[in-house]
Amino acid sequence: MTTAERYAEFGTREARAVSPAYERLSLAVSRDDELLALLDPLPPARRQPNLLFGVVRLLGGPVDDPAAFRDFALANWPAIEAELRTRATQTNEPGRCAVLLPVLAALPQPLALLEVGASAGLCLHPDRYAYRYGDHTLGTGEPVLECAATGLAPPKRLPEVVWRAGLDLNPLRVTDPADVAWLDALIWPEHAHRRARLRAAVAVAASDPPLLARGDLVDDLPALAARAPAGATLVVFHTSVLYQVPAPRREAFADVVRRLPGHWISNESPDVLPHDALPEPPDEALHNVLALDGRPLAWTRPHGQAMSWFG
Ligand SMILES: C[S@@+](CC[C@H](N)C(=O)[O-])C[C@H]1O[C@@H](n2cnc3c(N)ncnc32)[C@H](O)[C@@H]1O
Repeated sequence: MTTAERYAEFGTREARAVSPAYERLSLAVSRDDELLALLDPLPPARRQPNLLFGVVRLLGGPVDDPAAFRDFALANWPAIEAELRTRATQTNEPGRCAVLLPVLAALPQPLALLEVGASAGLCLHPDRYAYRYGDHTLGTGEPVLECAATGLAPPKRLPEVVWRAGLDLNPLRVTDPADVAWLDALIWPEHAHRRARLRAAVAVAASDPPLLARGDLVDDLPALAARAPAGATLVVFHTSVLYQVPAPRREAFADVVRRLPGHWISNESPDVLPHDALPEPPDEALHNVLALDGRPLAWTRPHGQAMSWFG
């Protein structure tokens, strides 16, 4: 896929109906030979629309108007390129806990949670957030994670978590304002509710930060898993991570995680973690598949805003 095609696809498939600003920007970039010529020499992972738009936001540039965005990008390209070369999209979306919760709550308690690709570890606190599944609420305080769930009875209890650890190539710190600013810049412009949710989740996580280890989800997982306490159910989980991992490493990861004790929860696009015999997704939008120990259970929307249970 060319860079132009990638931006056009991002605009029509990912941003449309979700972020009008990013839809406009990505379609404009897809037709802009000058910007495409600046992006093309970068490695593919560094040319992603989400990364470019997040970097421009971090640097204080405009993302509402394609012409103003273009002027800013051309005038500030050396600074933008430097950020593109060192940063990665590490969007940490606590809303994804709402789709993990039904599975976590049904496992033998207490739990030892180990998240691979944890970013800042905001998905490691599912027991500390509140939830709303239609009329059904669970937990107290902020953030309240809303999920339109069909096909399942919402969980009646929160999980009991006695240990939590995250593994990431580049762990971010909820106690570091620069890291939190990057997480904020990665949230799409119109998503004020997600920005508020990030702030609330950061406050929860900062009051008791989890163990976050720097490492690779294949090479370093067994050693971290070995630190989980006896007497708790080890749950290795990941959401929206494997698209960043090359295919042979994804297979190596699945081999490693299957050999560990406990359970494995995945919430990933079926393009990167395929399953046999999936039902049709509920609609044309992008969905992940939630699976327990390799068995698919539900289609889930990328930020945890909806799930359609079929398992
Ligand atoms: C899009 S973020 C998702 C973060 C979090 N799972 C969530 O759902 O909010 C993907 C994360 O995976 C991490 N990652 C990518 N490849 C990895 C690898 N090989 N080993 C460990 N972490 C990795 C990235 O650094 C990034 O923080």
